[in-house]
Amino acid sequence: MTGFPKDFLWGAATSAYQIEGSPLADGAGPSNWHRFSHEPGRIEGGDTGDVASDHYRRWREDVDIMSDLGLDAYRLSLSWSRILPEGTGAVNERGLDFYRALIDRLLERNIQPFVTLFHWDYPAALDDRGGWRHRDSASWFAEYTKVVVRALGDRVRHWATMNEPWVVVDAGYLHGLHAPGVRDVRVAPWISLGLLRAHGEAVRAFRAECGQQVGLVVNLEPKDPASNAPDDLAAARRSDVYMNQQYLDAVMRGHYPDGMREVFGDAWPEWSDADLQGVAEPLDFLGVNYYQRSVVRHDARALPPQAAPVRSPEKDYSDLGWEVYPEGLTRTLVWVKERYGDIPLYVTENGMALPEPATLAASSFDDPRRVDYLRRHALAVRTAMDAGVDVRGYFVWSLLDNFEWSCGRSKRFGIVHVDQETQRRTLKSSALFYRDLIRNRGSL
Ligand code: FCB
Repeated sequence: MTGFPKDFLWGAATSAYQIEGSPLADGAGPSNWHRFSHEPGRIEGGDTGDVASDHYRRWREDVDIMSDLGLDAYRLSLSWSRILPEGTGAVNERGLDFYRALIDRLLERNIQPFVTLFHWDYPAALDDRGGWRHRDSASWFAEYTKVVVRALGDRVRHWATMNEPWVVVDAGYLHGLHAPGVRDVRVAPWISLGLLRAHGEAVRAFRAECGQQVGLVVNLEPKDPASNAPDDLAAARRSDVYMNQQYLDAVMRGHYPDGMREVFGDAWPEWSDADLQGVAEPLDFLGVNYYQRSVVRHDARALPPQAAPVRSPEKDYSDLGWEVYPEGLTRTLVWVKERYGDIPLYVTENGMALPEPATLAASSFDDPRRVDYLRRHALAVRTAMDAGVDVRGYFVWSLLDNFEWSCGRSKRFGIVHVDQETQRRTLKSSALFYRDLIRNRGSL
């Protein structure tokens, strides 16, 4: 592998609800995910985030691990309901103190924090008021943004408003797999708009308070047709519009892409220009989360995007059934540049779930498939940079084994193993590989 620029940032990513545990500690209010995970049947194995990776109590040890790995950067998210237990109004200083201490420790160790304001856990109190459907939801988000930026804006240089709005809507409001568990094709478009308006208003609130950088994190993947049949080609196009273009077109171009009506049918409202006003605020960077490509076949019965993923026996898939396809990362990064122009990019998540034991007897853990995955995806980033894409950093998902949403703790993405009984942390061989990669500044 050829080298990366000296100032290219190598990092790892996590999110609050997935690792912290102690969801109600020190005055925090419940989140929608706390509530959802406690509903019977929602999460595989009946797991919840009550303990997760116990990071709320073990964060010092976790920062030591990051430091030992030589990370340049760490992407984390904040729990809104720790900071504003009711979502708006009274601020819980103890919630802010947790993040102040964590961020200060990161900075002491020369690890740059990349902070996401909303990575899916949302105050339950706001859900009760209508959540992202409510016309005030953008100002609630802006209020939270201001509180956080006033407290931490002096020390955090990179901020993202939200993580993967597409997943919030698709899993949370269309398929009911994520909190709040809604399945309603007529609601989903309104949540899409609500999130986009909240993003825009948060960017304005951010700029009014602080001169640091702000961006948005989206998940993207190539959508390849399963065949050249016109139905499959059309299904792949719809999937592309739905997942890859819906949010980025709104944010970067100020309007939804053509073809949203083919995705949602008559559930897609006739928006007026005023609806998306203020969404396309200039951004300092985009974060791209990349895991896989999907090969798409037309399926008339499916909910939008009326497409079904296809698996093939000769390909390599992760424990979540996601195809290992590094070339797709290059394609995706090049696509962003071609469609939206030059904007600094970070690969804000990339990684692989593998079946691994919940507890470990041995002191080392070998995960050669993940090592291979990381090596090939780092190379794919390099290839995109050689093609002229301005990629500034790369974050492995994830630092730690954690609570993988509806899959609970059954799916492991960590480069660091977390024993589910003892919470003991053990570096996997992928962590050792990553440490070497960072030491060599990407040359291996
Ligand atoms: C992404 C999420 C992240 C994690 C990975 C596996 O969609 O942003 O929280 O669950 O997938």
